[in-house]
Amino acid sequence: MKVFKEKAALTAYLSNNKNVGFVPTMGALHPGHISLISMSVAQGLTTVCSIFVNPAQFNDKNDLINYPRTIEKDLQLLEAAGCDVVFIPEVSEIYPPNTEMQQYDFGAIEKVMEGEHRPGHFNGMANVVERLFGIVKPQFAFFGEKDFQQLCVIKQLVKLLQLPITIVPGKIVRENDGLAMSSRNMLLTAEERKQAAGIYATLCLVKENKDVYNTEQLMQLAQNNFKHYPLINLEYIQFAYADDLAPLKHNHSNSAVMMFVAVRIGKVRLIDNMLIYG
Ligand code: PAF
Repeated sequence: MKVFKEKAALTAYLSNNKNVGFVPTMGALHPGHISLISMSVAQGLTTVCSIFVNPAQFNDKNDLINYPRTIEKDLQLLEAAGCDVVFIPEVSEIYPPNTEMQQYDFGAIEKVMEGEHRPGHFNGMANVVERLFGIVKPQFAFFGEKDFQQLCVIKQLVKLLQLPITIVPGKIVRENDGLAMSSRNMLLTAEERKQAAGIYATLCLVKENKDVYNTEQLMQLAQNNFKHYPLINLEYIQFAYADDLAPLKHNHSNSAVMMFVAVRIGKVRLIDNMLIYG
């Protein structure tokens, strides 16, 4: 496995390779990330993983400071998963002095849910992803469905910039009790970690009752269920169409509808989602 810190050296190394699969990450890798690496490896691609905690996408300074960094372990996991190349740039390598940040217009999808609750987050995320795509020039790029809205924004970015990159989604990987794997899970205390399972339990409860109740009743059911987990502070629950993330108004048509949840548990913010109809 080759490790690069400089973008010019990485671009030169990959320049004649038309078979590149890219998994951008912020490190603190877990089986969710590794499943994306494995998808790329299984496709026979030269698999490149970047590890870069992108300051531009953190709207909360403490979240950036506390974001877990486990680089030695990350490298071991990547090597074991068959990753070919790792890119670990410094901030100045991605954002040299006087870098102008792009302002994108992703339309309605960036104005709901995470877009509404984390101002500037998607713009900062898209800035780094565009830069990383420009350095790695992959044919395929892999993103997890836990950050489903991010996946939608990235598809939009690729369309907007007309990049010849296929975006491949990866299924959510969960712990035994259903908690979606996230780098932030390791910041939870033991009691918080226990109660965090309530997010998945609530999504499942709603799905089990999708044919019993209408959407408003399902929303009530979810809100009531969260009361069993007093450490969970609900930020939002949203039913939205899977294709454009437009909020579901009344009852669903035949389109796929997902339920999205964002919560705070102690100092940690977690998100999850599940397909409910369709
Ligand atoms: O999903 C993430 O870890 C980040 O948002 C990404 C895509 C690596 C960009 O910094």
